[in-house]
Amino acid sequence: MTEATHTQILLPTAGVDLFLKDGATSEAAKALSEDWRFARVNVSVHDGDVETAINMYGQSASPTLVIIETNTTDESFIERLGALAGNCAEGTNAIIIGPVNDVNLYRSLTSMGVQDYLVKPVAQDVLGEVIASTLIENLGTTDSRLISVIGAKGGVGTSAIAQAVALACTEKRKQKTFLMDAAGGWSSLSVSFAFEPGGSQNEAVRAAAMADEDTLSRMINKKTERLHILATGAEPLLDATVQAQQYEALLDSMMAAYPVVVADLSSSVPSLKRTVLNKTHKTFVVTTPALSSLRSARTLISEIKTLHGGADSGIELVVNMQGFAAGREVPRGDISTAMDREASVFVPFNSGMFIGLEADGRPMSEDKAGMEIIDSLVPLISDIIEGQSGEEEEPVKKSGGLLGGLLGKK
Ligand SMILES: Nc1ncnc2c1ncn2[C@@H]1O[C@H](COP(=O)(O)OP(=O)(O)OP(=O)(O)O)[C@@H](O)[C@H]1O
Ligand SMILES: [Mg+2]
Repeated sequence: MTEATHTQILLPTAGVDLFLKDGATSEAAKALSEDWRFARVNVSVHDGDVETAINMYGQSASPTLVIIETNTTDESFIERLGALAGNCAEGTNAIIIGPVNDVNLYRSLTSMGVQDYLVKPVAQDVLGEVIASTLIENLGTTDSRLISVIGAKGGVGTSAIAQAVALACTEKRKQKTFLMDAAGGWSSLSVSFAFEPGGSQNEAVRAAAMADEDTLSRMINKKTERLHILATGAEPLLDATVQAQQYEALLDSMMAAYPVVVADLSSSVPSLKRTVLNKTHKTFVVTTPALSSLRSARTLISEIKTLHGGADSGIELVVNMQGFAAGREVPRGDISTAMDREASVFVPFNSGMFIGLEADGRPMSEDKAGMEIIDSLVPLISDIIEGQSGEEEEPVKKSGGLLGGLLGKK
């Protein structure tokens, strides 16, 4: 099975109970605890079947997802599934594992609200993917894509690249996109996009925690139809920044509303960077061609890979300000050797353009050379934006779960 990029994230907190008889599937389920994405998912494997599940949920609360193996797939099983739904909390999802491939059974189960039907034995990668996509679909991480931009060190142009990435999403891929940073009073967003901050980051995270949409919308600058920006940064520079968990809640509420969110992680604290990177689908690591910056980028990439269980997918290396110290910087040809990987893109040093745009408060998309930078980033976002719902389309509806489906609420 091909690896779906949107499921390569830290999954939301959830409980998954599996009632299995098949040994190979049980082993696969137990091994999920080693999958980095499942750090917050409590997976319990029970030796049993639908009857075991009915008994269990007659006495204790059902989890987010119940996976049941069955050898019978006739009417009697469907009837027992009805009994199970009667004991489950609303919103509990079900996946059935059966003995044979049967399209009609699949159709009748999914029409009842069952999330999926798999044939045993189920391999670990398949089980992991099905659980991941079910949890993402039902727990509100939505199908939104999170792109993070992080610098190897300060001042390497992380905010500039984040702006270019956001503009690639909105101007080139026509996606409704939310651009946010976590820099508090150090934010440069209001300068780049010429707006007055509508509040502080602390106010924004409080509003998100209380689901206070009015306050939040006052802190969103609608730069264009598609590009909306977190207009914080009004706080004193020396104020304490927000906590990683608070920022995560703000991020979640934005991801519920926008198909693409771009997070500029420059000038933020390491714990927040780490939390956001864990949820990220695509990470742009920005460096200059200076040796110190490349060294730090190399270490950072290795740490991001460790965070993602060793996987190298979804990391793009951006070498910014190429040519800023011609003759003294690491030459283009030597960078891949120094980094052990190819740079995804080189962005030329162009102080005239950047200082000029900043002075006028104009976005990079309004400059020819700026547009070339944006164009060079488009191929790097295509894989995760492919198939994203644009602003004209309806948001993806959440499933009503097993019980909701059986009661015809879907
Ligand atoms: N390719 C480039 N050529 C010339 N100037 C650039 C380039 N990229 C960014 N700059 C400029 O360099 C300065 C620093 O960029 P930026 O604020 O994006 O860096 P940062 O890494 O986000 O910094 P911080 O660590 O302070 O958040 C800005 O004035 C920006 O316009
Ligand atoms: Mg910055």
